[in-house]
Amino acid sequence: MSAISLENVTKRFSADTVAARDINLEIDPGTFTVLLGLSGSGKSTLLRLINGLHKPTSGSVTVLGTEVGTARKTQLRHLRREVGMVFQQFHLVGSMSTLENVCTGALGSLRGPRMGLFSYPKAVRQRALEQLDRVGLADQRFQRADTLSGGQQQRVAVARALVQQPKILLADEPVASLDPESSNQVMSLIAQIAREDDLTVICSLHQVELARHWGDRIIGLRQGVKVMDELAADVSSDDAMRIYSAQWASEAAAAERAGGQEEQLAASGGANLR
Ligand SMILES: Nc1ncnc2c1ncn2[C@@H]1O[C@H](COP(=O)(O)OP(=O)(O)OP(=O)(O)O)[C@@H](O)[C@H]1O
Ligand SMILES: [Mg+2]
Repeated sequence: MSAISLENVTKRFSADTVAARDINLEIDPGTFTVLLGLSGSGKSTLLRLINGLHKPTSGSVTVLGTEVGTARKTQLRHLRREVGMVFQQFHLVGSMSTLENVCTGALGSLRGPRMGLFSYPKAVRQRALEQLDRVGLADQRFQRADTLSGGQQQRVAVARALVQQPKILLADEPVASLDPESSNQVMSLIAQIAREDDLTVICSLHQVELARHWGDRIIGLRQGVKVMDELAADVSSDDAMRIYSAQWASEAAAAERAGGQEEQLAASGGANLR
């Protein structure tokens, strides 16, 4: 069974903003998929559709067997525990210690608010420390998060995502704010942990070379349309750059015009197109 399955998924924010356009996608468990595309191409929207933060306008998104669009609140809550997220901006609490930040990753499975490191169950603190150790930051466990470098902060964010013991890790441009060396460290860490824990990873990136190096599979998006879906090993630099090229832009625009005509026809009752 696929870990993630999208069937004819469209996400429309307004009449002229369609961030996902009839996307079909099957993601196998334990694979590392990279999303590539220009700013505004729909990468974050796709990730948000997968973790249930957005509901599709049409089509269905199924994650670990749960259909996200129609799931009950309790099912969604359960699913969110299985899906860890990492963001470009880390989203750590700067005034908190590194270890407490990692503990917050377990909040989804705890009742009530927590104030301070020792308000977390010992088992959670222990798990948090193990994950912090895995990302190489156990020595910094009592350091304020805002005193860490960007690369270190992102590693803390990875540990926080892991503390909930997810099956899927979604990373939205996790290295876009980092220098090349830290970027490589963070990507390598995510890839290593994914292998060890058999995680399914979907990671959006801007850098073609990182995508080719770390991804098993590359999905290219352009104006919400899936314009490429290939094994990374089969994608050359030039192929990947085409995702950004004018040719795709004109093809996507043509598809949009065709879609518009279809809608006009349908709206006027002129045809049953499907
Ligand atoms: N909540 C929202 N409301 C309205 N429009 C939105 C919303 N979220 C995204 N969009 C629009 O959907 C399109 C895709 O945006 P998205 O953020 O998914 O792109 P992206 O590929 O992640 O871009 P970036 O590389 O800049 O992060 C854009 O046109 C954006 O303005
Ligand atoms: Mg984005």
